Amino acid sequence: MKALILAGGTGSRLRPITYSMAKQLVPVANKPVVEYGIEAIAAAGVKEFGIIVGDTGPAVEKAVGDGSRWGIKITYIPQSAPLGLAHAVSTARPFLGDDDFVMYLGDNLIKSSVATLVKEFEQYRPAATILLTPVPNPSDFGVAELENDRVVRLQEKPKNPQSNLALVGVYLFDKRIHDSIAVLKPSARGEYEITDAIQGLIDSKLEVRSHIVEGWWKDTGTVDAMLEANRLILEDLEPGMEGTADEHSRIEGRVWIGRGTVVQNSVIRGPAVIGANCQIIDSFIGPFTALADNTRLTSTEIENSIVMDDCELIDAPSRLANCLIGRGASIKHQKGMPKTMQLVLGDSSSVVLP
Ligand code: DAU
Repeated sequence: MKALILAGGTGSRLRPITYSMAKQLVPVANKPVVEYGIEAIAAAGVKEFGIIVGDTGPAVEKAVGDGSRWGIKITYIPQSAPLGLAHAVSTARPFLGDDDFVMYLGDNLIKSSVATLVKEFEQYRPAATILLTPVPNPSDFGVAELENDRVVRLQEKPKNPQSNLALVGVYLFDKRIHDSIAVLKPSARGEYEITDAIQGLIDSKLEVRSHIVEGWWKDTGTVDAMLEANRLILEDLEPGMEGTADEHSRIEGRVWIGRGTVVQNSVIRGPAVIGANCQIIDSFIGPFTALADNTRLTSTEIENSIVMDDCELIDAPSRLANCLIGRGASIKHQKGMPKTMQLVLGDSSSVVLP
């Protein structure tokens, strides 16, 4: 069994963050999203990983590395253009050969074991195993129709979904999927859809098994979903203190504080994770906040947010909430007259003022 992680694509719904970084590298609880999937599959005993990359390939490779830290081997596979999930699979064919593989969408987070799926796949040898979960907005996903637990139809982002069961971004395949991909036509959105390829397996009367996911699952493709994923991961945070907090500070609940971080006259209410070498001065950090390394907070309140490396949040005049703040961003309070707001925002940025 090999693993194929999809970390190409464009990430248009996460702009402006994705103008300068891969969506799969956005940190959730201070760890790039894609690493959660890699770890879950490595824990299932899979050793050979291929990672599909697009324009952001060099950054993905730099962040994720060669896999040695998980005891696996990673091969990076450039995709010529984001032409769809099935196109990614055919791009990876030289790497995959005729082997079985688990495919994982690099922007998905799932809290259930991959090991049991792999075991079951190897025992029953279906052509594919898919994961499903009920969602309130099935039109945003691939949707499955079941008859007595049997998958009878799959449709990618249907306008009139016939069920609320969305395809989750984890799939297991054997080599028969390649024949199905070979005859695919591009969908209405111009992509080669893995959903259509799996429908091809069903049409050929091959077995496609399905599982309803236990535990939660998140497609982190939007800011709200990213913040929710951050909350879900922080729910299980192991607390720890590698920095220092003075006697005027209060650390409440489950909080992780990284090496070299200094907390002065501040309150940190968990669950929250603070990276290394941060300065938290006269500030409040509320639940479900992840602050990455080298960030400076002075006289600022923040909660339910993700702040990436090297940011400066100084004297913010009201509490920051539900924020996704990219690397090196700076938020400061202009004191004195005139009372203006000066914004330097990248394309597609969004600001909600009180
Ligand atoms: O998140 C689950 C959904 O993922 C499923 O319900 C859908 O059936 C499936 O098609 C997919 O839909 P999305 O529209 O959300 O896929 P997205 O374009 O976000 O791509 C998923 C991942 O694959 C993401 O990490 C980017 C990567 N990717 C995407 C494309 C189109 C590639 O590596 N290459 C590609 O060509």
